[in-house]
Amino acid sequence: MKVKAFEMIKGDDMHCHLRTGVVLKSVVDFTSKYWGRAIIMPNTTPKAVLTADIASAYRNAIKIACHDNFEPLMTIQINDKTTPAMIAEAKKAGVVAGKVYPKGVTTNSENGVIDLKSLYPVFEAMQEQDILLLLHGEMPGENVFCLDREEIFLKELIDLNKRLCNLKIVLEHITTSAAVECIRRLGSNVAATITVHHLILTLNDVSDGKLHPHNFCMPIAKRPTDRAALIEAATSGHFRFFYGGDSAPHLEENKECSEGCAGVFNAPIALQLLAQIFEEAGKLDRLENFTSKFGAEFYGLSQNSGIINLVKKDWTVPNSYPCGESKIIPFMAGQTLHWQVEE
Ligand code: DOR
Ligand code: ZN
Repeated sequence: MKVKAFEMIKGDDMHCHLRTGVVLKSVVDFTSKYWGRAIIMPNTTPKAVLTADIASAYRNAIKIACHDNFEPLMTIQINDKTTPAMIAEAKKAGVVAGKVYPKGVTTNSENGVIDLKSLYPVFEAMQEQDILLLLHGEMPGENVFCLDREEIFLKELIDLNKRLCNLKIVLEHITTSAAVECIRRLGSNVAATITVHHLILTLNDVSDGKLHPHNFCMPIAKRPTDRAALIEAATSGHFRFFYGGDSAPHLEENKECSEGCAGVFNAPIALQLLAQIFEEAGKLDRLENFTSKFGAEFYGLSQNSGIINLVKKDWTVPNSYPCGESKIIPFMAGQTLHWQVEE
């Protein structure tokens, strides 16, 4: 019998960009009403979240803007200015993870890292303080072909895990079958997040005869075989693959231009679309593990206490959401989805 409605434990979005200012106010509720907690990315502008103090102030700004029962889980960005003392301060301030952006591979990563190995002393401090390391897993450098950046980066991950085997590492927003296989092979301290858009898109959806800027993100969507491997991993019930949406809002004018920004704004539709994908895979019963159990477990958190009700009812994704004087175009704008969250 086909499921028409179900309830599940409220989930965690283990990778989310909420930005600041007017964008924060416009987007935060899409995350805070559907998820109990979210890991908040530190690549804000004009000031990135590099210290415990900035993380605390950012947390307060999010709390003021969001639903009462939502908990932002804060991160700091780790770069060549980060010291072990800063890690200890971050821990005291309740920061749960440090994020590494390789230099220049994505939005606001100009202050990122070229040589991961130069950060090993900081990673050691993270291991001691029990702070997770979140990796944007793409090899930087002009000479690396863009579709190969993730696969080449896997060697860095393997080396790091060998050297610091008690450090908990999350390889973020994986996009290749090579990354799926690598995570399966590595031990219990290494996990991966998977976004909802990488379960839908291939490179054809970014650029076929025309350019589709709202499907453009980093790491860029890859081959159909990669997408199939990601769907298999997400729906497999393997506890080291869990949801991290990488919802990344940009104003319309910053997407629809030359040098458009990377990022897919999926927060308004992520959970509904996940239900659809898991249903199509015949694995709806495994959605709760992926969204609400495995991530919390890996982060050492208890499960959320709230409940979410999903019902099978078609709806059309809005063409845009207002944001100050401008707007933000969501993922799947104008398309019909089959599941809704009962509010
Ligand atoms: O597409 C992306 N957008 N990938 C990232 O890693 C960053 C994000 C953003 O901040 O817009
Ligand atoms: Zn991200």
